[in-house]
Amino acid sequence: MVGHAESNFLNSAREDPRIRLEDVHIAFGPNRVLRGVNLRIAKGETLVVVGRSGEGKSVLLKHIIALLRPDRGEVWIDDYRMDTLEMSLLTMVRKKVAMIFQGSALFDSMTVEENVAFPYREEKRLPKKEIRERVVENLRRVHLTDPSVLEKKPAELSGGMKKRVGVARALSMEPEIVLWDEPTTGLDPVTADAINDLIQETQEHTGATSVVVTHDMASAFKVGDRMALLHRGRIVYEGTIEETQDTTHPLMRQFIDGTATGPLTEEEEEDLG
Ligand SMILES: Nc1ncnc2c1ncn2[C@@H]1O[C@H](COP(=O)(O)OP(=O)(O)OP(=O)(O)O)[C@@H](O)[C@H]1O
Ligand SMILES: [Mg+2]
Repeated sequence: MVGHAESNFLNSAREDPRIRLEDVHIAFGPNRVLRGVNLRIAKGETLVVVGRSGEGKSVLLKHIIALLRPDRGEVWIDDYRMDTLEMSLLTMVRKKVAMIFQGSALFDSMTVEENVAFPYREEKRLPKKEIRERVVENLRRVHLTDPSVLEKKPAELSGGMKKRVGVARALSMEPEIVLWDEPTTGLDPVTADAINDLIQETQEHTGATSVVVTHDMASAFKVGDRMALLHRGRIVYEGTIEETQDTTHPLMRQFIDGTATGPLTEEEEEDLG
């Protein structure tokens, strides 16, 4: 994406967001994880969320589909307030949203074919042959082309293969919103790049809105329209990809330069406010 489209996303994120988090707080016992997250995501954009391990990135994604509910604050998808939505409506909205879980979250007792076909189950009118064709096509998109993979159980797959099957299953939902939790972590560079392409294709071909949580900065710059940094429970930086490349924000800079390891200096902490 180039500058023009990015600034359009920025405006539409502000004025007409597809996903909106307002002052979201959550604590697990004494562990205050989200401490006032504000985030707006435009229809059709890909927002990349970065942050150190344990900062609450997965927790943030789970709030969007109301797998977790905030102690305080609001979570919206379109005009639906997710954190208080009644079950029947929640089920309806969730059909539009696919989450690629960090640990792939496949059904262990099902074969790969059954896992990827799972979202088609409710569409009883689809003939079996057509379901299989779609499954094979979705597996092809994640570079799983060996037919023997269809009959395998998750326990027989490598970590990277499991992840790819998870992506294929999510695509079977034909989602309008895709939440990707570390989609390329632990993958070899070729497969990681195939997943990056897939994130872009999903956005370009379906107009889906994506939130991508990642540690992989190459992936972030490749797929993102905008970037947000979660730190100490808040979004401390937001910018378009172009702005982010040149940012002087100290912590964001550390992520870009691959030096986000040690603690921040006191000065840097103060800069973050
Ligand atoms: N269901 C839960 N119950 C209790 N604590 C939780 C739960 N889910 C997450 N946490 C805690 O919340 C914090 C943030 O976890 P989260 O998984 O969101 O981190 P993350 O930013 O995704 O990290 P990583 O980059 O390692 O995936 C951690 O301290 C974790 O232990
Ligand atoms: Mg995580």
